[in-house]
Amino acid sequence: MKTKRWTVDVHDKLSTKDPQIAQAADLLRQNEVVAFPTETVYGLGANAESTEAVMKIYEAKGRPSDNPLIVHIADISQLDRIAGPASEKAKKLMKQFWPGALTLVLPCKPGVLSPRVTAGLETVAVRMPDHPLALALIRSSGLPIAAPSANLSGKPSPTRAEHVEHDLNGRIAGIIDGGATGLGVESTVISCSEDMPVLLRPGGITKEQIEEEIGEVLVDKGLTEKNETPISPGMKYTHYAPSAPLAVTEGSAERIQALVREYQQSGKRVGVLTTEERADIYEADFVKSCGRRDQLETVAASLYDALRSFDEVKVDFIIAEAFPNTGVGHAIMNRLMKAAGGKVIH
Ligand code: TXA
Ligand code: MG
Repeated sequence: MKTKRWTVDVHDKLSTKDPQIAQAADLLRQNEVVAFPTETVYGLGANAESTEAVMKIYEAKGRPSDNPLIVHIADISQLDRIAGPASEKAKKLMKQFWPGALTLVLPCKPGVLSPRVTAGLETVAVRMPDHPLALALIRSSGLPIAAPSANLSGKPSPTRAEHVEHDLNGRIAGIIDGGATGLGVESTVISCSEDMPVLLRPGGITKEQIEEEIGEVLVDKGLTEKNETPISPGMKYTHYAPSAPLAVTEGSAERIQALVREYQQSGKRVGVLTTEERADIYEADFVKSCGRRDQLETVAASLYDALRSFDEVKVDFIIAEAFPNTGVGHAIMNRLMKAAGGKVIH
């Protein structure tokens, strides 16, 4: 399949009539899949009401069929058709954070969405992205759009159109290039189908921000305890992983440099994932800096690009510095630990 590519200059007044957006929306209405930027990562969109369309997402990504998709809407009026009733707390969160990087898991209305979207669950994950291009595309299509991150399953999520092209060129109908995404990590997923909300995936909107709005939320035990199965099916898979094995360490720069030397002495080529503050310290085969440790948003924004860069160089092993587990650091550490398959060097 030849993948169409459009480049769109993103600004607040993007219209549903923009010819490139209209062409991409046409493809969505023909049940084809199209990648587009959101404020978190690039998404791979398809008509959420069509099983034919949704199957193409799973095929293109090589995604396990038990992993449900997030449905993206552009207007609150689209919500009623697919989900509900929403709890008072869920409504508060929508009011405060939509459009934005928060996905709400709500009761699913039967008979509208393809059953492949929810992977057979009675709930549906919904979000309204905060990106003019994503919103214009969804509006122009007139459909609820199912969209996972637009990467091959298991790989780091795409934050630039080139990442999507690298993974999915020839496998999807189109890619809209709207430049780099802003936040760089995916939306926070929270279940609001019961009294006590449960955080299922840390992301762009922090637990602290959510608690300020609705009081205490629980964190899914599956995220923190090895023997618990996560509630979100997607959270049980290794993900975000570069080709070489990766381990996270909380050690000092001296300790990390000693580890580098140890691995090098056993004949391995070693890469280090660090930040600007320490990038000059390490003598490794490849040192990649992602943002500044004192501004964790900059780390979130460049983390996936940094993880992908290790595939372009030949290293046998990657050591990644750990980050504080609060604010957006919660999402960063969650992704790094998944990329590491849980491997920590103490
Ligand atoms: O920022 C984002 O959320 C991006 C952009 C494209 O919007 N999308 C994204 O989708 O990250 P994906 O498919 O890569 O991750 C969706 C996560 C998975 O962990 C999935 O298991 C979970 O949401 N999920 C979807 N529906 C669910 C449901 N009904 N109950 C629990 N978890 C659900
Ligand atoms: Mg994903």
